[in-house]
Amino acid sequence: MSDMQFVAVPQLRGTLDVPGDKSISHRAVMFNAIAEGTAHITHFLPGADCLSTIACFRAMGVQIDHHGDTVTVHGVGLRGLREPNDVLDCGNSGTTLRLLTGLLAGQAGKYAVLTGDASLRSRPQRRIIDPLRALGAQLDGRNNGALAPLSVRGATIHGGAYELPIASAQVKSALLLAALSGDDVLTLTGRTDGRDHTELMLAGMGIDIRTNGTTVTLSPPAHPVLPYALSLRVPGDPSSAAFWWVAAAIHPNAEITTTGVGMNPTRIGALEVLTAMGAQITISNARTEGSEPVADVTVRSSSLQATTIRGAIIPHLIDEIPVLAVAAAMAHGQTVIADAQELKAKETDRIATVVAALHAMGVTAEATDDGMLITGRGALNGATLASHGDHRLAMAWAVASLVATGSTTIQGTDAVDVSYPGFWRDLQLIAR
Ligand code: S3P
Repeated sequence: MSDMQFVAVPQLRGTLDVPGDKSISHRAVMFNAIAEGTAHITHFLPGADCLSTIACFRAMGVQIDHHGDTVTVHGVGLRGLREPNDVLDCGNSGTTLRLLTGLLAGQAGKYAVLTGDASLRSRPQRRIIDPLRALGAQLDGRNNGALAPLSVRGATIHGGAYELPIASAQVKSALLLAALSGDDVLTLTGRTDGRDHTELMLAGMGIDIRTNGTTVTLSPPAHPVLPYALSLRVPGDPSSAAFWWVAAAIHPNAEITTTGVGMNPTRIGALEVLTAMGAQITISNARTEGSEPVADVTVRSSSLQATTIRGAIIPHLIDEIPVLAVAAAMAHGQTVIADAQELKAKETDRIATVVAALHAMGVTAEATDDGMLITGRGALNGATLASHGDHRLAMAWAVASLVATGSTTIQGTDAVDVSYPGFWRDLQLIAR
């Protein structure tokens, strides 16, 4: 476990090319692995989570050349994956475990076991197991499928209709990937409002997938060369850029630009919330890369006001709540975060872990069933803060340390490698 000590810095200034989007990097490897042809992926996120995805597909016979942020995937086609001859290790990555379980559920004749680290093995899996079983999947896991390791015996997936009870893109994507090798149309309704990268990328690969309001429909391809390979440049990850947006907004002498950041509307709730809090934000150079919108985002020192974060925006900022909590602690007034029960199902229980860290920094904060109440105090005390192995906590506490009085020790800083291996280097680049 690595510990690091920080003190506040006089100035934050600079331009950062934040690493590639984690969700899109995973999907670019997974979907191209089952495509026909070769795809070149640039600005790929070489974080531990995405490396777990690469390792799993290599174990199923897919040739993947990986150098830094460049990846070439030699697709084997929808029926070409090899049965893995050992357990697939998904590390810390919920996206790898859940999407891969969905994909393998429809791979008739193949058997696989998927596991991960202690955090992943404690996260809820019934959310994918129950609907996949209803479509015909043969799955099991500890406690009747509640927890990984999960086992998958590939079967014939039948289409049908399923109403998603929670706004999880991982659940939505697992079902869509199962249906890809199924025998009928799958229609999803309900909480389909999680990130839509799967829908956009599969459509870009020639798959008949349509979104109409909250209904998503996928027809399994009749054409043997679909999905076809899709080369792309992965946009910068808004969930990584959000650390710098908050750092600039709460620091008294700051201006930070993040370039080429993904602006998919299902991902930029944090930008909307920071704007509502009074953050000085300029969006420039808006453009489209592949199927995704991107732009440069500049944030300057700001005087933040408390806000209420609840309802439909929650899925669009769920990963940013730890760092938004730091912004709330530095704002004037009481911020309310509600409808965010999903925080309990992340790498840690982020209601409990975030509130504990705010208390350690001298902030009045209260955990609720579905979120938290934070009384902004415009100042933070340096403290010893644990990452609990959760990458987004380690980075949120680093942002807090940039304005805290005294020194801050962060325990378990190596957790950042999961989604932002260059985080400490980027921090050094802008801290003056
Ligand atoms: C992800 C979806 C989200 C998010 C996770 C990545 C994805 O999880 O928190 O970091 O790539 O689909 P849920 O689907 O559980 O909301």
